[in-house]
Amino acid sequence: MKTTRTLLTLFFALSGANALAQDGVVDLTKLRNYANQPRPAYITRDNTPGNNAITDAGATLGRILFYDKRLSRNSTVSCSSCHEQSRGFGDDATASLGVNGSTGRHSMRLINSRFSNESKFFWDERAASLEIQTTQPIKDHVEMGFSGTSGDPAFADLVTRLTAIPEYRVLFAMTFGNSTITETRVQQSLAQFVRSIQSFDSKYDTGRALANDNQPFPNFTAAENAGKALFLNPPGPGGGAGCAGCHAPPEFAIDPNTRNNGVIGVIAGGTDLTNTRSPSLRDSVGPGGQSNGGLMHDASKATLADVINHYNAIPADNANLDNRLRRPGGGPQNLNLTQTQKNNLVAFLLTLTGANVYTDEKWATPFNTQGELELIILPESATTLTKNSNGTVTIRCTAAKDLTYRFETSSNLNQWSLITTVTADANGLIERTVTAPNPNQFFRFTYTP
Ligand code: HEC
Ligand code: HEC
Repeated sequence: MKTTRTLLTLFFALSGANALAQDGVVDLTKLRNYANQPRPAYITRDNTPGNNAITDAGATLGRILFYDKRLSRNSTVSCSSCHEQSRGFGDDATASLGVNGSTGRHSMRLINSRFSNESKFFWDERAASLEIQTTQPIKDHVEMGFSGTSGDPAFADLVTRLTAIPEYRVLFAMTFGNSTITETRVQQSLAQFVRSIQSFDSKYDTGRALANDNQPFPNFTAAENAGKALFLNPPGPGGGAGCAGCHAPPEFAIDPNTRNNGVIGVIAGGTDLTNTRSPSLRDSVGPGGQSNGGLMHDASKATLADVINHYNAIPADNANLDNRLRRPGGGPQNLNLTQTQKNNLVAFLLTLTGANVYTDEKWATPFNTQGELELIILPESATTLTKNSNGTVTIRCTAAKDLTYRFETSSNLNQWSLITTVTADANGLIERTVTAPNPNQFFRFTYTP
């Protein structure tokens, strides 16, 4: 009685991706945890729709799609080209480069997107949900170029391209039960990955776990606590800066009902009054206080100090300026903050930045430096044999949850015949018991995409 096992690995070949951890291996039998990540009890908002809860398989597929340049017409641009992990999934360029020129607005950071109660996406909220948002850049002529217009291929051509890649047939089968690729499935898996990107290890979170927002945090400096009070309190007699009216803690996501904040420039020149969404103010800058890219839809504010100066004295009124940013008598607000107050506000905003999200491999590129990816579908060392008291033998293998494997037999290791198919259970186990195997009979589990 002998057995063999099959290590089935598949390779993507791509040119020059670059990022952090680059072993280029995704082990489908040991998926990373995306579905049950811990988050603080005080985080209560969640825009996950009932039909697209995060699963480890779905977010893994989303991660691979997010970093795959083949999602652009000429295979040069991926989502990560404009949303870099090391920049809080934003971009340091004012306008990001796509396959046909550069974007009209500045790229947005993608941290904690899940925890905003504004469930419409983009600066101007033109995408009705995160799911709908995710394929817009793919179908954009400038960004990824599957627009189906202006001589571009259409989204259906991308589906054809992806369907021809065996790895994607495996990943879609694992996530959705069969290997059919549709726009809805691409949206669901990309949205699962984006929603999984979370950051709750900031200095603010350490303090918030010890005290309520309206109390001083014991781990804060005096300046940080003073900045927090300014952030929370409305302008007027209390002398606050009123930020929490639109970027409420502890999520620091945008208020769904806000109008614009007086930043109305356009990168290419002109005026735009439609920008009423902001990413969470968490991770506005990186872990050392370094820039994650310019702030606001036109990247017109290079630093947090520039942002504070804007709100301190909003330069001009406009037809869609939010009333919270107007003086009681009319006209844009002037908070008359002192330099110390401005510094304190910046000190507080710096406490909102975490660390792990910038480096955790689960959000990093899965491709190696050569742009290749190896999928482990059956690990080499995970098969066990158990001789049962009745003479039968149980062959058990750790496999990828929800994939269907072939259980085959051979007497010469050349020709294999199918005994049965078996689908890995919720723990990723597959097993079959064979009766009285003869001494020259081999068995294996295999997977064919
Ligand atoms: C060429 C650069 C570029 C590429 C490629 C790109 N994005 Fe973006 N992304 C942007 C810009 C710019 C914005 C803001 C655009 C706007 O609001 O008009 C944005 C906004 C977003 C938002 C909205 C965030 C929010 O809080 O509202 C999400 C989500 C997003 N992108 C995800 C993706 C995904 C997923 C992909 C890949 C399928 C992708 N992006 C590809 C540049 C890019
Ligand atoms: C009336 C609602 C409102 C108030 C009050 C408000 N903001 Fe904003 N904030 C917005 C909107 C809307 C945007 C997106 C603006 C854009 O880019 O067009 C924004 C953007 C920002 C950004 C840029 C985010 C990014 O990712 O680029 C920062 C930082 C910010 N606000 C900080 C503050 C601070 C600090 C205060 C208090 C001094 C404050 N905001 C008060 C509505 C508000």
